[in-house]
Amino acid sequence: MANNIVMEIARYSPEHQSEPTFESYEVPVHKEWVVLDALNHIKDTQDGTLTYRWSCRMGICGSCGMMVNGEPKLACATFLSSYAKNGTSRLRVEPLRYFPIVRDLVVEVGQFVGKLKKAKPWLIRQEEKPLSAGEYLQTPQQLDDYKQYSMCINCTLCYAACPVVGLDPGFIGPAALALAQRYNKDSRDQGSQERLAALAHPDGIWGCTFVGECTRVCPKHVDPAGAIQQYKLTAAFHYLKSLLMPRGQNIEEATYGSDLGSTGPGTGNTTAA
Ligand code: FES
Repeated sequence: MANNIVMEIARYSPEHQSEPTFESYEVPVHKEWVVLDALNHIKDTQDGTLTYRWSCRMGICGSCGMMVNGEPKLACATFLSSYAKNGTSRLRVEPLRYFPIVRDLVVEVGQFVGKLKKAKPWLIRQEEKPLSAGEYLQTPQQLDDYKQYSMCINCTLCYAACPVVGLDPGFIGPAALALAQRYNKDSRDQGSQERLAALAHPDGIWGCTFVGECTRVCPKHVDPAGAIQQYKLTAAFHYLKSLLMPRGQNIEEATYGSDLGSTGPGTGNTTAA
């Protein structure tokens, strides 16, 4: 393992530069150091102006996402030693791909948050029971149905890995769709029709071409690609059902609202069966 590693870090101050540049810093490689430790070391001892985002330092808050040697990674969960061990004595650190840069390694996530809202990632009930009736109970099996998708920490690594996000900024993206499935599969939720109406769309589930990079880079093993394929099956089933049983569609509209219509692939329609 190398004693030192050279970190090439993207620097960008939009007020003073037209495009990002790279600056190099040499840091010691300690066995227990992650990329975030190296950035903190640089900020403390070499350049106090280096700007990056972090909070928990334990892979929970999702705020330290950045590109490390071209791969989306959590800086607090990426060990320096794994790069030095491979004989690489240089490490390139850049802001997450496909996001506007605020400064250095900090990206603007406002558009991502807007996409999350479209997926309605909260419990929707057609009718609430009174507080006096107690909580909504679930069996361990019902919890298992959605638990994997609930592990998402909104770190946006999957967006930086997704070529569809790069080609089509309007694509709602992997994390939002996986979160929609998290609530669709929750036994307490009654909002799946509402979400389907918003997400069975070329910029929603039908935009995904199943490259699978989102699942590969997810630090919490959420498997957004799997969630989206499941969601496509559900949407296709509802579309077929609306063709075969148009009267059933009317019953569903009466139950869930009149803005529901076709959810078929490539229909471009934001209404569902
Ligand atoms: Fe919270 Fe890395 S600092 S996930």
